Amino acid sequence: MNIAFDPKYAGIDREATLRGIGARRSILESARRGEIWNDRGLGWFSVREAASARALAVVRGEAARVWQRASAMIVIGIGGSNRGAMASIHALRKTLKSPTHIVWAGDSLSGSSLRDVLDIVERESVVLNVIAKDFRTLEPGIAFRVLRQALLDKYGADYAERIIATGSHGDGQLFELAREHGWRFLEFPENIGGRFSVLSNVGLFPMAVAGIDIEALVAGAEDAERALRSMPLEMNPAVHYAVNRNLLFERGFCIESLVFFEPDFLPLARWWTQLFAETEGKTQQAIFPTYFCYSEDLHAVGQYVQEGRRCIAETYLRAFHPTPNLRIEPSPDVEDRFDYLDGKAFDDLNRAVYEAAIRAHYEGGVPCQEIALPEISEFELGELFYFFMFSCYVSACILGVNPFTQDGVESYKRVMQAMLREARPTPDRDGGAVGQLPKGCL
Ligand code: PA5
Repeated sequence: MNIAFDPKYAGIDREATLRGIGARRSILESARRGEIWNDRGLGWFSVREAASARALAVVRGEAARVWQRASAMIVIGIGGSNRGAMASIHALRKTLKSPTHIVWAGDSLSGSSLRDVLDIVERESVVLNVIAKDFRTLEPGIAFRVLRQALLDKYGADYAERIIATGSHGDGQLFELAREHGWRFLEFPENIGGRFSVLSNVGLFPMAVAGIDIEALVAGAEDAERALRSMPLEMNPAVHYAVNRNLLFERGFCIESLVFFEPDFLPLARWWTQLFAETEGKTQQAIFPTYFCYSEDLHAVGQYVQEGRRCIAETYLRAFHPTPNLRIEPSPDVEDRFDYLDGKAFDDLNRAVYEAAIRAHYEGGVPCQEIALPEISEFELGELFYFFMFSCYVSACILGVNPFTQDGVESYKRVMQAMLREARPTPDRDGGAVGQLPKGCL
């Protein structure tokens, strides 16, 4: 496996990690073998179960079909349904070649954002990929309705062949709707939940359309699977990471921030945040995951990290897009006082700020762990996805929470649905119909 985990700046010595492993040995052994919470939701554990050669061929075929029809594919989904694809497409975007670009929809209730997507439907030739494990989620469901109607207006009866639904079977679910209305269909695996779905049709199809080499990405994930499922606990980097996070929490570090130095990793960090928050956030003992994009955030939250309350631990992603030909030329005309950088490669600056931040924070008492990738390509990204899903599952097993549920997100939905069912639509105002909320609703 190409991913390296290095906790040397975490303030946890190897003996402490090994003691942590010893104290949880039987849980960790069972988790490493995928024996806990394995009745539902562990379909991603064997990478080839959802990403078999046949499944990849189908996805490739569908992607080729999209390339012939559309300059834009609108991916409608939220949470686990879109974050994996978004993460990889963004991280790899500089290397991708595809006749079809990806547009995201259905991940907010902002009419203004949806209006932007409707403008794309008008301007470009489009297809829709609607993704929902449970087609009752409001955001993608209602965006799909609006966009479907826009497609019908534009393409007439042929609109149906421009819809690819990735979903489940059951009453009112996308399989049934697709069969009834003639849309194309890809399976959302029954035994995989949204945030663990990046290596299934859910993530792989938009990635393939965007031009990602999905075979290489899956090969990377499989490589990580082989390593992590077979390595003894004492040497297993994903187990060490999971154990250390929990040790850090016990020492009062209740926030973990994923730190990255390539802005293109922002969606990846959001995928990671969702993965850990929805998986573990069911007990007061779970670490709160967030992310910082350095060096920008060094000029914002960096102050708090350095001198604020000691509750934040950082996990640094040591991964860079090399830009070998970008050097800093001297500036003879303008005395800008940056001459000490003359002749340096821009990449050296980013690496310097990486080293500076990790050292300053460590010396200031902030535990910093590192996860290093030798390069940012499909293979390494596949490894990283698997590494994080595996360690997140192990970490949830340590906490004793079911990694594959998210009952907590239902509470706001119940309130919102009650509000919306009771609300009368008001006439268009400023171009938008606004619901009249019943008094005392909250
Ligand atoms: O990880 C999860 O299970 C969730 O974040 C879901 O992906 C998200 O709520 C969207 O659900 P659905 O695909 O059913 O619309």
